[in-house]
Amino acid sequence: MSKVNILLTGATGYIGGSILQRLLQHPNAQKFEIATLVRDPAKAKILEEKFGVKTTLGSVTDQDKLAALAEGAHVIIHTADSADNADAIHAIRRGLKSRHEKTGDLPHLIHTSGAAIFMDPKNSSNVYSDVELASIEALPPDALHRGIELLVIDADENGGYARTHIVTPTLVYGFGHGPLFDAGVSNPYTMAIQFFVQAALKRGSVGIPPEGAGTWMGVHIDDLADLYVGMIDAILSDPDKVSHGRAGYFIAENGSQGIREVLQSLAEGLFALGRVSTADLVPYAPGEAAQYFGGEGPQFFSTILFSSAVCKGERARREFGWTPKHTSQDILESVKQDVKEYVKKIDGAKRA
Ligand SMILES: NC(=O)c1ccc[n+]([C@@H]2O[C@H](COP(=O)([O-])OP(=O)(O)OC[C@H]3O[C@@H](n4cnc5c(N)ncnc54)[C@H](OP(=O)(O)O)[C@@H]3O)[C@@H](O)[C@H]2O)c1
Repeated sequence: MSKVNILLTGATGYIGGSILQRLLQHPNAQKFEIATLVRDPAKAKILEEKFGVKTTLGSVTDQDKLAALAEGAHVIIHTADSADNADAIHAIRRGLKSRHEKTGDLPHLIHTSGAAIFMDPKNSSNVYSDVELASIEALPPDALHRGIELLVIDADENGGYARTHIVTPTLVYGFGHGPLFDAGVSNPYTMAIQFFVQAALKRGSVGIPPEGAGTWMGVHIDDLADLYVGMIDAILSDPDKVSHGRAGYFIAENGSQGIREVLQSLAEGLFALGRVSTADLVPYAPGEAAQYFGGEGPQFFSTILFSSAVCKGERARREFGWTPKHTSQDILESVKQDVKEYVKKIDGAKRA
């Protein structure tokens, strides 16, 4: 039987590394031919030599390289700067189109977006659902990440050369694990923990905006990886059973959590390590948060996380039986553990 060609972007990242780890351990791993695009030559070498993964050196902004890789794949899992990088999605579209025209194959793109698309700084009671598409369709085209999502959907609905699926992770937590992480290839830390710990260490305490913080949904990294693998299995066994295009929207969440509670856990975790002066949250003075979150990126990131992004993910549960094992309470314990691991990394980097 011929192998299934899979292209994964972001193999050295948290989400991409976790998916790749699962694909390498998949019962049908022998049937997969996995290609990746990696920027770091040392990591590319380990991926090739230790894990048998084909790598091409380069950035997702190397459009010709990425388009050629995309043309070679029946399934593309896109996680590298996926939510925001327009160049990458244009290159992937080009590759998908070319594959379809040359071979007649109808390839699949599994695109990774992000629940910041649902961000509501007013913390109102909006709830988005991936089975009530009108709520998602009503998002303005200039909402964060939405422009890229529309390009993905367009490849399917207007281009007709691919089936596209959008996975929208919420606040991902938990430590990335497995041989790829042990080998130092993939990043085991989630973004939110990195930004918040860095800010708290600079300030000496964990801050919260004076007006409070909103509510986010969360998903454990292991459950998120399960969702991608469940989708790939379903696509390979019966592609007609997995929604695509506009309807192919899959929110990954396993419950909601107040950001105040998440920050409280973070403060307790850092206080237990002796890294902040109090286990209490210390409100920011107006405009103060910006100085701890640095420039535009992380500062914007803090705006996202202090807001609300409330959404329900039912499609993956319905269509291929995704069953997350973690609950919304798990995030609070996990954050303390994640903080410990991330502080270890910072200490290690200082010693090196
Ligand atoms: N983590 C979360 O909580 C979360 C939640 C919702 C959505 N998301 C979205 O999920 C996607 C993946 O996030 P993540 O948490 O896995 O991030 P991450 O750990 O920072 O990993 C990012 C990956 O993308 C690669 N990458 C970035 N820019 C690249 C470029 N120009 N060319 C090639 N590779 C590039 C990185 O490669 P290097 O190793 O070379 O840097 C790394 O492999 C992003 O689009 C993010 O916005 C994440």
